[in-house]
Amino acid sequence: MPVSFLLRPYHPDDFETLWQIDQRCFLPGIAYSKHELASFLRQRGAVCIVAETSTDVNRSPASQTTESPTESLTELPTESPTESPLEAPTESPMNFRILGFVIVLVNPRQAAAYITTLDVLSRMRRLGAGTALMAAAEQLARDGACTAVHLEAAVENESALAFYARQGYGIVSTVADYYAPGAHAYSLTKPLT
Ligand SMILES: CC(C)(COP(=O)(O)OP(=O)(O)OC[C@H]1O[C@@H](n2cnc3c(N)ncnc32)[C@H](O)[C@@H]1OP(=O)(O)O)[C@@H](O)C(=O)NCCC(=O)NCCS
Repeated sequence: MPVSFLLRPYHPDDFETLWQIDQRCFLPGIAYSKHELASFLRQRGAVCIVAETSTDVNRSPASQTTESPTESLTELPTESPTESPLEAPTESPMNFRILGFVIVLVNPRQAAAYITTLDVLSRMRRLGAGTALMAAAEQLARDGACTAVHLEAAVENESALAFYARQGYGIVSTVADYYAPGAHAYSLTKPLT
């Protein structure tokens, strides 16, 4: 099914949807808690870009798709209240048009940008959304006088490593126990031209 999408800036109403996408994109222990996601969004220099379709392509009920519900965006159990620091994000309805997002930290003083996370719902992958989100993040970095973009990816995350290689990122080091004891990461960098 051909799917077109547009990129737009993050809005606080997106928070619950982005958190739920992140829960689906990463394993427990690597996926962010609401507290972590909110903290990343509030960091100085953080910009979040959202990829959105014009229709509700991610609602899971049987009327929409024959795929497994775990492949789609549906309501997840809510986290403990102690994990929800934003002012009222969880009151916003789910946005079933959002298929992915990127958070980039632009640091002009270090002339470097950092990709905090990049998430595309599994059933919406290989459609160019990841590439478009990274291109937008890298343009923000260039606009912020950055000469390189850095990120980490789990050493066993073969699809992400293939994706980043295609985007021009190279492995510069291995960070032992980056995510948790025994869960190592590669640091990757792309010089911006
Ligand atoms: C990594 C991720 C963001 C890629 O998003 P995407 O929208 O599928 O990426 P694109 O469609 O733009 O892919 C561009 C190219 O990257 C490469 N690529 C992407 N996914 C790949 C995979 N699973 N295996 C091999 N190559 C892959 C391909 O060369 C692809 O081009 P092609 O489809 O024409 O062959 C997505 O798989 C994802 O969200 N994964 C889970 C979260 C994650 O791991 N994030 C990054 C962690 S730091």
